[in-house]
Parts: sequence; structure tokens; C-alpha cells
Amino acid sequence: MSSPGSQSIQSVLKETRTFAPPATFSAQAHISSRQQYEAMWKKAKDDPAGFWGEMAENLDWFRRWDTVLQGQMPETKWFSGAKINASYNCVDRHLKGSRRNKAAIIWEGEPGDTRVLRYQDLHREVCRFANVLKQLGVQLGDRVTLYMPMIPELTIAMLACARIGAVHSIIFGGFSADAVADRNNDAQAKVVVTADGGWRRGKEVPLKAAVDASLDRSPTVEKVVVVRRTGGEVDMVPDRDFWWHELMQGVPAECDAVQLDSEHPLFILYTSGSTGKPKGVMHTTAGYLLGTTMTSRWVFDLKEEDTYWCTADIGWITGHSYICYGPLSNGATVMMYEGAPNWPDEGRFWELIEKYRVSIFYTAPTAIRAFIKWGNHWPEKYDLSSLRLLGSVGEPINPEAWMWYHRVIGQERCPIVDTWWQTETGSIMVSPLPGVTPTKPGSCCHPLPGVVPDIVTRTGQSLGANEGGLLVMRQPWPSMLRTLYGDHERFKKTYFSEVAGCYFAGDGARHDEDGYLWVMGRVDDVLNVSGHRLSTMEVESALVAHPQVAEAAVVGFPHEIKGEGICCFVTLKSGEGDDGLKVELTQHVRQAIGALATPDQVRFATALPKTRSGKIMRRLLRDIAAGRESTQDTTTLEDLSILAKLRSDEE
Ligand code: PRX
Repeated sequence: MSSPGSQSIQSVLKETRTFAPPATFSAQAHISSRQQYEAMWKKAKDDPAGFWGEMAENLDWFRRWDTVLQGQMPETKWFSGAKINASYNCVDRHLKGSRRNKAAIIWEGEPGDTRVLRYQDLHREVCRFANVLKQLGVQLGDRVTLYMPMIPELTIAMLACARIGAVHSIIFGGFSADAVADRNNDAQAKVVVTADGGWRRGKEVPLKAAVDASLDRSPTVEKVVVVRRTGGEVDMVPDRDFWWHELMQGVPAECDAVQLDSEHPLFILYTSGSTGKPKGVMHTTAGYLLGTTMTSRWVFDLKEEDTYWCTADIGWITGHSYICYGPLSNGATVMMYEGAPNWPDEGRFWELIEKYRVSIFYTAPTAIRAFIKWGNHWPEKYDLSSLRLLGSVGEPINPEAWMWYHRVIGQERCPIVDTWWQTETGSIMVSPLPGVTPTKPGSCCHPLPGVVPDIVTRTGQSLGANEGGLLVMRQPWPSMLRTLYGDHERFKKTYFSEVAGCYFAGDGARHDEDGYLWVMGRVDDVLNVSGHRLSTMEVESALVAHPQVAEAAVVGFPHEIKGEGICCFVTLKSGEGDDGLKVELTQHVRQAIGALATPDQVRFATALPKTRSGKIMRRLLRDIAAGRESTQDTTTLEDLSILAKLRSDEE
């Protein structure tokens, strides 16, 4: 999608079906009527400090705030003067009553092994690991990298960091050693917590080996803690590498949660922007915790008796906010699964829902499209009657996938919440409320209380119904990012300079005539591959690092399952490319970034299409990658014969 200047973006999607929430659902929901929602939204807009001050009563504070909100975007501070701890809120406060023996985490490994941690157990493990971190020399504000499979130790490590005021930086296990080194260095991480490996489709993902490969380029890392998960062979370097289970032996099971300032950094999470260098999105304690706590309640309607399952990996923001902090702060029972949805067969997710009687299920459109492809007979084999609410996140959900989710998984009984948000926003921003909003397939519907979006032109003019433009936020919200780690200038420039006075999300969107919001996709050079953000520039820099590559341009194209696929146009320093080199370049990108960045197409060209001023004509390349006739004006193209050559190098 291209970005609008003073004009609006053309939208082609028209969807008229609506689905009202079942009356039985509305009757029991936390937010149960349109009037209630509208009153909350209006109060939050007109009096943010009053509204969020009231909401903050839902958290436990060591000391109350002096002011709820200080400053203007982007330099806002929430709950100044207060003292709080996220780990205390997610664990300790639940030990006072009947939740003490409630399951906090119900975990299943890919091979079928299981563990249940009650809130008491979680408390004990978090305290012990917090003490371990302290023994390893981790102090207030130090950064700790977590590069782990989806095992309970990951949540334990997060909450242990939060407990002592250390800042976790989680790196998704699908990233490569190079990506780990880059992130360790940017964050200046002191300790890395990893595992020997994790299970994925029956194979071991060797995490410790990747950490080893990253460490000769991560000079700040002093210690490595390794969880024994797969039992695979690993090298342990004396005095640097330690087994988790050995360190945990004999460590006290009590560790006071440190009383932290509201704006104390909670975590850094790297995400892709429109340059080659990932951005270290930084979230702070009180505002982030409040945002995730309230949205978990409003959007997922979390109740004491729910079994809630979010299928994301904790390595992404969805896992941070809606596997760990949001649901645990609410004292929920959280399901956690280590492996792939198609292992040992395509029925695994539905089997898990039946087995644990999952009531709330939150997944991504890319997964839904894969389920559709695998066939209805998989979900039909299992009893899904425990489900009462479904969620979607990560990319626009196409109406047909929405309808399938509604019919086959929700059995026309469960409301669907299509949640729009970002790593930067920390918590869900725009979403239906399951007891209130009549949903339209493909629309994320309305802003939550405290969220004041607008759709504007580049010059900041608000657009009318069905005029596509840039999605911005006009008011600050508690869980917004506070900076990009080590680069506050980039933070201001990326998010607050595009449209004066607003937070710029990087997405294009429109409102329809009923005021429903439709997200149309990114307007910058960010790809959304299987719901994961990747910068075209990151893939380009990986390609040009290969000795034979002269120049590369990377674009997205529509992909049946992934939503967007990666197409690389490459010119070589000399000679002609062949299939062998295509495979080599594909592997090269995987190694530089990780499996999630694996190119779907590599095409060789003698030159890239450029304007006379030397700008690569990306829109033209997008048309070629998608196999579309281009409507792009090519009169500015320097060498017209390039076009024919590019088209002829089809996959
Ligand atoms: O383009 C939007 C898309 O994902 C981007 C944010 O990616 P990330 O920071 O990795 O966070 C993903 C999980 C919150 C957004 O800029 N996106 C996310 N959710 C939706 C969406 N696009 C449309 N509809 C959604 N529900």
C-alpha cells in the first residue's frame, strides 16, 4: 500500500454482514451495554487522569501516585510518585485468597508432557529465580536477554526480572544467532537465559548453540543460564554457563518484590521498522501493566473460571501482554503450549481445547488460514463446546477467514474480537467488546476507552467516512512505548513527526459510515509475514552482505497462508544467477535473521527498476512479485527493458 499525500487511499473491501453478541454473553459480560462503553470512552477522552486514576484501583500499589498523567505526547509520564511492582501484581497479590491454589499456568510441551503451576508454585519459582539472578550479579535496571522455548521457565524468568527491577529483552526463538548478537549488543545485556533447545514439529530447535554462536560478538554478556528442556548435547563454558536446575537448588523461595517507580523500565522488545536496524521498543511498569490488565478484562471478558489460551509465542508482544502480564495480573488460568499446531497432526490445537476445556482462544489470521487449508475434519473431530470467546490479532483478517472461524470454531456461538494493536501500543487499542459490539467480519470495530484514534492525511486533516488515510492517535494512553532503547531521537522521529501532535502507527485505515474502523495494512516499508513484522530493509541488508550480491530490493506480495510473502529482487556483482544461488541466498537470509524471514521468491535481474533520480520503484516491483499487470506510470523508469527481464524471471 502506498502512503497518501493530501489524498485519501482507495479502499476496495466492502463488507455488510453484522453479528450481534449473543444476549446470554452480554448479560454476563464485564462491559455489557453500549451505554456503558460510551460513558467509559467519553470519560476517558474528556478526563484521562480521572478515568485512569479510577482504573488504577485495580492494581496493587506500594505507594499511591501524586499525579496520574504528566506532560504531552511523546514525553508523557503516568502515575508519577507511585511505587509498584509488576511481578507482585501478577503473582503475590493472588496468594491472599482462594487463587492461592488456582492454576496460573497449564502447560503442555509438544511431545505431550504437561505441567501445572498454581499461583503458589509460580510465586515460589519466580522468587527463586529472582534470587538466582541477583546471585549472578543482576542489578536494578540491568538488561537480561531471554531466548527460550515456550516453557513455564520463560514466564518465570520474565516475572523474576520484573521482581528485582531488571529489564527483560525477549528474543523470539526463531531468530538467528546474528539477530541475537545484534539485540544483545543494542541492549547491552548482562545475562542471557536460554535452553538447550525447544521442540518444534518433532525436531529440536538448538537454542544454546545459537547463543554460543552469538556470544563472541556480545561482549557485554557475562553469564548464561540454560534450562534443560530437550536433553540435547550442549557445550557448557565453565564460569560462564550454568544449568538452571543447578542454580535453583537451595535458593530461598522468598524474594521481596522491589518497590519500583511507575516509569521504571519493564522490558525492551525489538521490532522491525522501516530501516535495517530493529527498534528496541521500551515499556515501563505501571502504565503497561494497567493497560494490559484492563484490556484483558474488557476484551477477553476474563472471569475467574475461564481457561484462557493465547497461541502466540511469548517472544512477540502478544505473548508478553496476553500470556504473561495481562491475564496473570487478573489472576487467570493461562494455557501455554510449546509447539506447532500441526504436530503430531493438524488436530493438535483442537485436541488441547477439548482436553483442557479452554474457554477463550486467541490466535492469528495466518494460523486460521492454515486451519482452513488443513480441512474442517480436524476441528470436527473434537469437542469445542467449552469455547465462549475467540480472538484474532496480528494482521487484518480477511472476511472469509473470519466467517470460517465464526462457523467452524465458534460454532456461531462465540463472539470474535479482532484486536488491533502494536508492539509500541503495549495493549489492545481497537477491538470489539464481546458483550456489546455487533461485529463486521474484517473490521476491528471501535477504540477502547482511553484510545482516541483518527484517520488523517499526511498534513493531519481528518478524513470522512470511507476515505482511507493514516491511522493516528490523538491522545496518550498508559501502555504506550516510552522510547526506543538508546535512541530517543528515532522514537520521536518515527512516531511523532509524521503527523503533528499525534502518534503515527504506520498503518493505513478507514472508518465506514457506521464508524467502524478497518485497518488496511502498513504504509511504510514494513512487511507483515504470518503476523510478524519484518522490515524490507533488514532483508535487503542481509542480502547485500552476501559476497555475490550487488544490490537488492525486497517487497511483499499476497500469500495465501502467510498474508504477505517475501520477494527479493537481486542484482549480482558478476555472472548470472541460477537455482543453486537462489537456494544459497535464501539460506543466507535465514541465517542472518531467522527462519521467519525466509524469502519465498528470489529473482535475479541485471538492474533494478529505478526512476531517473535513482529511487527504486517499489510499487512496480510489488506488482511484478504479485504477478499483476502494473498500473504504475513507468515513464520515469530509466531503462524500460528491465521490466520485461524481471517479469520473465518467474519462480
Ligand atoms: O499492521 C498492523 C498489524 O500488525 C502491526 C503491528 O505488529 P506488531 O507490533 O508485531 O504487533 C502484532 C501484535 C499486536 C500493526 O501495525 N496488525 C496487528 N493487529 C491487527 C493488525 N492489522 C489489522 N488488524 C489487526 N487486528
